[in-house]
Amino acid sequence: MTELKLNTYETVALNQVKIWFKAAPASKFPKDGGACIKYKDKQIAVFNFSREGTWYACQNLCPHKMEMVLSRGMIGEERLEAKVACPLHKNTFSLKTGNHLNGDLGAIATYPVKVENDFVYVGFSE
Ligand code: FES
Repeated sequence: MTELKLNTYETVALNQVKIWFKAAPASKFPKDGGACIKYKDKQIAVFNFSREGTWYACQNLCPHKMEMVLSRGMIGEERLEAKVACPLHKNTFSLKTGNHLNGDLGAIATYPVKVENDFVYVGFSE
C-alpha cells in the first residue's frame, strides 16, 4: 500500500508536460506558503514563493512517515535553492530537484507550475 502510494508521484520536467491542470486562482495560495491541490489520485503541494516571485509544486506526501503534510511546511532557501521543511520532523527537500537536503531519504517528485491570468496551473505528463 505504501509503495503504491509512493509510486503515484514522479517528477515531471517542463518538456514532459502534456496537461496543464487549472488548479485554482493565485489568490487562494498564501504568500510565502503553500496549499494542497488534488489531481486525479495525487495530492500536490503548491507553493507561492512570493518573495522570490516564483511558484513550485511537489508531492504533498512526506516520504519520512508517509504523511500528507508538505503543503503545510515552511519554505525558505538554502544555497539559493528553494526548499520546504516538513512540519512534522523538519526533513527538508529542495523544491527544484526534490532532493532531501538534510538526510538521505529519496527525492520527492516536483512538478512545473505556471500562472496565467491569475490562475495557477500545474503540469502533468498524464
Ligand atoms: S513526516 Fe515529514 S519529516 Fe517526518
